[in-house]
Amino acid sequence: MDLAVVGTGVAGLTAALRAVELGLRVVAVTKTTVEDGNTRWAQGGIAVVLPGHHASPAGDSVDAHVADTLAAGAGLCDEAAVRAILAAGPCAVNALRAHGAVFDGGWADVQRTREGGHRAYRVIHAGGDATGAEIERALADSARSRQLALLEGQSVTEVLRDDTGRVAGLALLDELGDGVLRARAVLLATGGLGQLYAASTNADVATGDGLALALRAGALTADLEFVQFHPTALYLGTGSRGRQPLITEAVRGEGAVLLDTAGAPVMTGVHPLGALAPRDVVAAAITRRMAATGTDHVLLDATHLGGAELRRRFPTVYAACRSIGVDPSGEPIPVVPAAHYHCGGVVTDTSGRTTVPGLYAAGEVARTGLHGANRLASNSLLEGLVMGRRAAEAVAADFMVSRCPGPPLPSYDLRPVADRDALQQSMSAHAGIGRDSAGLAAASSVAEATTRRRIRTPRDAEDAGLTLAAAAVLAAAAARTESRGCHLRTDHPRAAKRRRSITVVLDDAGTPVPAEPALVGGVA
Ligand code: SIN
Repeated sequence: MDLAVVGTGVAGLTAALRAVELGLRVVAVTKTTVEDGNTRWAQGGIAVVLPGHHASPAGDSVDAHVADTLAAGAGLCDEAAVRAILAAGPCAVNALRAHGAVFDGGWADVQRTREGGHRAYRVIHAGGDATGAEIERALADSARSRQLALLEGQSVTEVLRDDTGRVAGLALLDELGDGVLRARAVLLATGGLGQLYAASTNADVATGDGLALALRAGALTADLEFVQFHPTALYLGTGSRGRQPLITEAVRGEGAVLLDTAGAPVMTGVHPLGALAPRDVVAAAITRRMAATGTDHVLLDATHLGGAELRRRFPTVYAACRSIGVDPSGEPIPVVPAAHYHCGGVVTDTSGRTTVPGLYAAGEVARTGLHGANRLASNSLLEGLVMGRRAAEAVAADFMVSRCPGPPLPSYDLRPVADRDALQQSMSAHAGIGRDSAGLAAASSVAEATTRRRIRTPRDAEDAGLTLAAAAVLAAAAARTESRGCHLRTDHPRAAKRRRSITVVLDDAGTPVPAEPALVGGVA
């Protein structure tokens, strides 16, 4: 096999399909089923400036999109990467359309909305608030009709390397046992780590697998401390666990306002963009207001839209509200911040190459420099589309110069595994919005309270991944003694003058450690 793609969300399927077009022998591997990832839950849309659509009369431009991305990223974006990825958006969206994705309004008059941090209406969407579901449908249909090789129900336990250090394939595990898949290149497109937290907008499969695989393979990672909380998950009651329904920012883009439970506006005077401030600002303001009023949620008032418009424009949100007995046309929606997106990840260039020869990464698992300390809304689907294509093209280009790998070297070592429930509780208590050194140390103790286990089941593999991902996020969070973007330290409330990315690698004992000096993608 030339290329094994791990993950079948927007970045993974885009990469696999592009690699097939380039004539590579490709297999896409997923631990569940093709459609069962995070992509299908994405609501708002794709942030993209389309020539001929947005430039006039809205006056939007790629430069304006770059400026909004840099402002949201709180000083840690890599401007060259931001520009390269955003400028490639139209081409990537056209490729997605060629796979059959259909956008609201039809292409000639495609509809656009706004989300947090955007100063222009540039977010295109599908199915009202079901953009991710439409993307996943189109790419999965295309994969099946092109007979892309799909390995479902296979957990990846290790990226195998040959005796020169080059990637040589994957160690796999299913309910029947383990096996080896030989591949000249591996692309990680496994998504994020929302399941590190007790409550998250992420699918159950978001267990930090790719981050853990890359760290164990020796790859450099960065910006791991920046875990973004979405300001408005549907409030399901005190202590609700697992995947929480999302209330897309586009509802605020269409004029909904945030109120506390006494009816006072939450965002007045907080930021010039009000309820459409960047996501870190809104989530922090809600958290402060909940603390000040002693409540565990706030309210999102979208009643001005009326029932018919809510059902047409936001069918997913409407159905989620109705499922808990809330009628958003007649009453405000109860909402609360929840873990949503990992802004950092495996360091890659703007072609998806990691620091390990033969290992590539794209989508949420990767750190390209696009997001900095806080991702701009709806830049993630765009990044998946652009970087999926680019990574496939990089694999093909690199094959022209690389030699064939030697035999893979499976290793079935013992892995540290912490208790998943305790880990989620302590990450939620100490590594969410508002962190301090004592809390981070307490969470690290939970992540270090492990037993060393042979990985025998897919659940063991996930738990080992979560344990390593937690330790890596906590190491980075402890090392960043300032507040910036979605990393809010109550013991270091201000931003430091020096802007730097913190990188993390595994030491010889397999422990994640911050690597100094930190110099990644233009930010030192
Ligand atoms: C949303 O629709 O609010 C989420 C979009 C995103 O995470 O970018």
